[in-house]
Amino acid sequence: MMHVNTYEFVENIPSAEALANLRKLVGWREIDERSMAKGLANSLYAVFVKVEEEVIGTARVVGDSSTCFYIQDVIVKPGCQGLGIGTTMMHKVMDFIGENACTGATIGLMSAKGKEGFYEKFGFRRRPSESFGHGMFQLWIPKKEAAGGEWSRNE
Ligand SMILES: CC(C)(COP(=O)(O)OP(=O)(O)OC[C@H]1O[C@@H](n2cnc3c(N)ncnc32)[C@H](O)[C@@H]1OP(=O)(O)O)[C@@H](O)C(=O)NCCC(=O)NCCS
Repeated sequence: MMHVNTYEFVENIPSAEALANLRKLVGWREIDERSMAKGLANSLYAVFVKVEEEVIGTARVVGDSSTCFYIQDVIVKPGCQGLGIGTTMMHKVMDFIGENACTGATIGLMSAKGKEGFYEKFGFRRRPSESFGHGMFQLWIPKKEAAGGEWSRNE
């Protein structure tokens, strides 16, 4: 089994193609490459992991670089999970946030089902809690596309 040191951690945005490929491998909704490239370019911070030329991990941060940050696209390729790669990427993400966040800044993320424990290690708390309501979200579905099919489901 490869050790985490075998992997190259690159602090830069991955290609839209590489991220789209990883999202597909973990069963996430497809986003067209042009939209993905536009979003990636607006990231505040990103890290990806390479083995030879293959990208096998990503994590990135968007936000205002001071008072609010949102962590997105934390993915490790199936088969490479459980080796500490996700943890190393999250440490880099949290280092970036630590260098830029003001006291009282909000740091958000949306945990995939069953992954809450992974994020708790980095200080994230589940909602709802005693003082906070549910986190909320919606998938943006333009009306013209909402007439059926996968994208019309908001779950
Ligand atoms: C979640 C994910 C990014 C974790 O990355 P990873 O490289 O597999 O995780 P690591 O090997 O760094 O594991 C880190 C630690 O978290 C633990 N962990 C991993 N998944 C966990 C879970 N669901 N609940 C609790 N702990 C978890 C591991 O046991 C390990 O603990 P240890 O350090 O005490 O041994 C990865 O499994 C993944 O990409 N999953 C599919 C996509 C996904 O769900 N992403 C999260 C989106 S919000």
